[in-house]
Amino acid sequence: MANTTISELATTVCNLPRCAIDASVWSWANAYKVSITIFALNQLGILRSLTREALTSSQLAVRFSVSEELIVPLLDLLCSVQILQRNADQFVASSSLEAVLPLVAMEAHVSATHLTAAQIVNVLQTGAPADIFQKSDVQQYVPVFTAAMRSSARTLAPHLVRFAGLTRCRKLLDLGGADGSLACAVQRMVPNLSITVIDLPRMAPAFAQNDGNQPESGIQFHAGDLRDPESLRDQFHDTDVIVLSNALHLLTTAHRSALFEVIRRSSPAAARLLVYDQFIEEGPLDATHFMSVDWIVNGVAFRESADSYAATLAGAGFVDVHTRRFSGLPGALLSARV
Ligand SMILES: C[S@@+](CC[C@H](N)C(=O)[O-])C[C@H]1O[C@@H](n2cnc3c(N)ncnc32)[C@H](O)[C@@H]1O
Repeated sequence: MANTTISELATTVCNLPRCAIDASVWSWANAYKVSITIFALNQLGILRSLTREALTSSQLAVRFSVSEELIVPLLDLLCSVQILQRNADQFVASSSLEAVLPLVAMEAHVSATHLTAAQIVNVLQTGAPADIFQKSDVQQYVPVFTAAMRSSARTLAPHLVRFAGLTRCRKLLDLGGADGSLACAVQRMVPNLSITVIDLPRMAPAFAQNDGNQPESGIQFHAGDLRDPESLRDQFHDTDVIVLSNALHLLTTAHRSALFEVIRRSSPAAARLLVYDQFIEEGPLDATHFMSVDWIVNGVAFRESADSYAATLAGAGFVDVHTRRFSGLPGALLSARV
């Protein structure tokens, strides 16, 4: 079982002859069962435990009060896709998995109510985006979302600080900066940096609840809408660095162009723009390709590669445009001067 591929699993477990089905469609249609197994074992705390120590199924059964007989096939399934490893009768996960678990919890929440086939059908037929912040369970979603933002901010911040030389900067604008997680992580490394987080008004309560944003911290929140960049014009006047992290894909092409036009027109000549996102590269399938479904549900067809978007920024008049990838991060960083 340990080396069985999903394709083989679908064929053997369901006992259907290969010729009777399209193995690829059947495999992918069933692949969500890997996702929900990951979500369930994360919810139980089993994945976190296995990043810290190797445990047998009977130890897991006792520690997490679950049926040993029923948990073993799920552990084996995750071994077959190399999320877990099995050594004799012990299961273990790579310690690097732990940093991703808050993002996994967010996916579990999002897939339960938001990223559904019904939402995709609706957005395709009507063009109307689905907004997870309008859902009735938003109060449960916000802490899961902010925990995920904190974990990705911890990984991104050191690269931003080093690559963009932020220690020499005075003022940073974080567009779509959510609850200020990235701002806090950056400011811990550059304490004298003054940071303004711009996000929709609905993010203000989450910002206020973030312990890193004490009034004396030098991080402030400005409620604004990136789709109306003229209203943000004054924010750009005295800034050294403008960060747009994981938010480009939420804006339509027209909104992106309008935002970058205002940034160029309103920022000081030496100001630097840093755009981090999960650009979609040609080549073998990877996790970023799955993100295009999130973006469609948000009503945006974001299909840019890092290089194509660098060319777009250069075409819009930005200079000194570079792209950079960092190990351990799924996305790419674009850096440009206005
Ligand atoms: C995926 S989160 C990224 C958060 C953070 N920048 C990071 O990289 O972890 C996207 C953020 O953009 C914000 N956002 C989405 N549309 C926006 C808009 N039109 N104006 C301002 N903020 C927006 C969302 O509220 C959310 O906080």
